[in-house]
Amino acid sequence: MARILTGVQSTGTPHLGNVLGAIKPAIELANDPANDSYLFIADLHSLTQIKDGNLLRNNTYAAAATWIACGLDTSRSVFYRQSDVPEVTELAWYLQCMFPYSRLGLAHSFKDKSGRLEDVNAGLFGYPMLMAADILLYDAEKVPVGKDQMQHLEMTRDVASRFNHKFGETFVLPEVLTRESTMYVPGTNGGKMSKSQGNTINIFDDPKTLKKVINKEIITDATPLEDPKNPNSSVVYNLFKLVSSENDALEMANALRAGGYGWGHAKKALLEAIVDGYASERSRFNELMANREEIDFALAQGSARARVVASDVLSRVRSKIGY
Ligand code: TRP
Repeated sequence: MARILTGVQSTGTPHLGNVLGAIKPAIELANDPANDSYLFIADLHSLTQIKDGNLLRNNTYAAAATWIACGLDTSRSVFYRQSDVPEVTELAWYLQCMFPYSRLGLAHSFKDKSGRLEDVNAGLFGYPMLMAADILLYDAEKVPVGKDQMQHLEMTRDVASRFNHKFGETFVLPEVLTRESTMYVPGTNGGKMSKSQGNTINIFDDPKTLKKVINKEIITDATPLEDPKNPNSSVVYNLFKLVSSENDALEMANALRAGGYGWGHAKKALLEAIVDGYASERSRFNELMANREEIDFALAQGSARARVVASDVLSRVRSKIGY
């Protein structure tokens, strides 16, 4: 049984790209009985960017509701809010004291962002050590993340082995599980779907809003209805393929190639696939958002379980350091 752990930063309601590319695969891993899995919402990391209590709280609820609505079995995984286990901030401090300042300055998450952000705070600089603490606090063995997080994982292993070297075997060195589904989910404008691009599709939106987004925002070329079209170079088809059955996708591809089937038809099919295909997730999401005690209850159970492990590991660390 491998202990796997992953965190998600909550930056608003997850969109179709997040759901397909990260959330669904992570839920599959988490629900697999062969894994002992820890999953948390990284709301302490969010504080590097968000300074609005309501927004911070709501983002956490939206993230939690998404995971539950998309099928996470919260009795099987330890599912918690990072800020509910404050032990992690103590460990982050210890780790920061073991890690060279100059290496943190090289983190992409700091280097690439700091030029653009108006709020370049010290938390942004220490971000990788808080992430290392997230992982090391639970003796995690495997950490599934996207490619953009590889460097943080290297730093985690680095700080863990520095610590082990100085104080004796204390931490488990975590392995990276790179999400092999390099699934490319196009946004409405054809670029990679991402919140910062403003090209997202939110599967939890009501059908009316979805219809507007699909009809008005998804780009198409000007090929007349009668003419044959190339499915593979179109955003509509590439999205449809990701949310429909293989058969339906093949049918659409054939219809587009044959001509006499317009982008309007394809958009209508895409809308239906999203509205119907995610109907149960949508209603569960809305139910949870309207009844937040249910989310709180699930997260409270998770943090109680998480704290048992966290306090154990932390006392091990404290005594090694000399406290
Ligand atoms: N930094 C990660 C991201 O932006 C989120 C995260 C925080 C995380 N702590 C973690 C991921 C620990 C894996 C393990 O996606």
